[in-house]
Amino acid sequence: MNIQSLKLACFSPTGTSLSILEAIKQGMHIEKTEIINATRSDQRKQSLLAASNDLLVIAMPVYSGRLPVVAEQWLQQMSLDNTPTVCVVVYGNREYDDALLELKNIVQQRGGVPVAGATFIGEHSFSTDSTPIAVSRPDSTDLGQARAFGEQIQSIIDSFDAVPVDKKLNVPGNLPYKAIGKGGALDFIDISTACTLCGQCASVCPVDAITISDSVTMDLENCIHCCACIKACPVHARTMKEGALMDAAKRLSTMCNEPKKPTFFFA
Ligand SMILES: Cc1cc2nc3c(=O)[nH]c(=O)nc-3n(C[C@H](O)[C@H](O)[C@H](O)COP(=O)(O)O)c2cc1C
Ligand code: SF4
Ligand code: SF4
Repeated sequence: MNIQSLKLACFSPTGTSLSILEAIKQGMHIEKTEIINATRSDQRKQSLLAASNDLLVIAMPVYSGRLPVVAEQWLQQMSLDNTPTVCVVVYGNREYDDALLELKNIVQQRGGVPVAGATFIGEHSFSTDSTPIAVSRPDSTDLGQARAFGEQIQSIIDSFDAVPVDKKLNVPGNLPYKAIGKGGALDFIDISTACTLCGQCASVCPVDAITISDSVTMDLENCIHCCACIKACPVHARTMKEGALMDAAKRLSTMCNEPKKPTFFFA
């Protein structure tokens, strides 16, 4: 198949999905390549467009066994035209539940042709020094597997004469999907006096929930609990408070400490 360009799209508040996407790209050899990082709200204003002679790879984190709502809303706007598409989800060593199936189904609904899928493990967003969960994943072995997956996709694509519209990609997951909890305002971050008002936390927030003036304020209603602001603070002024999220982190840290492995699916 003659592929004109490789498009790699992600939503990745703490960077693990993006690093998997970059490793997959390294395994491929399509000259014209574009990374579409839809993590920030301004980046999600533009819809994702791809044609039948593009190859699209989408990597998304798993939130509560599903796609993050803001990422799902962006994906629902994309316009594909028989675009061969690789669906990837990255999860924090608990489970990916219905997220990969959800991604595959959206790709199909928006006009794409899912040709392969994969699941990878990333350090859990809720991981802290005292509640470690999949720390430093993806590690070098994961990234090597992501590169090898990229090579495999490349050779499969090279072997196709045309977009394989009749092939079927089967991935784990159930319908109806796992219900998304109501969420709601959760006051789970402490800000210490070490804060220098540098604004780094506000600049990484995917939903613009942080305002910096003579102090740092958070819009708790809109916060998606991604923890990007905690991980990005250069002086570690942001920490997780005791409460529901910290309880979840403690639980996951003890229950999900057996390292899981990436998995791969092909049409
Ligand atoms: C609100 C929320 C819910 C999450 N739910 C799950 C989950 O159901 N299963 C899991 O294994 N990891 C879960 N995670 C962890 C992320 O999937 C994981 O850390 C992923 O690597 C984050 O991707 P990113 O670095 O691209 O943002 C959750 C993270 C957040 C913030
Ligand atoms: S990143 Fe840290 S130091 Fe900078 S404004 Fe945010 S909390 Fe303060
Ligand atoms: S304020 Fe909420 S949504 Fe924004 S970066 Fe922090 S945890 Fe993520």
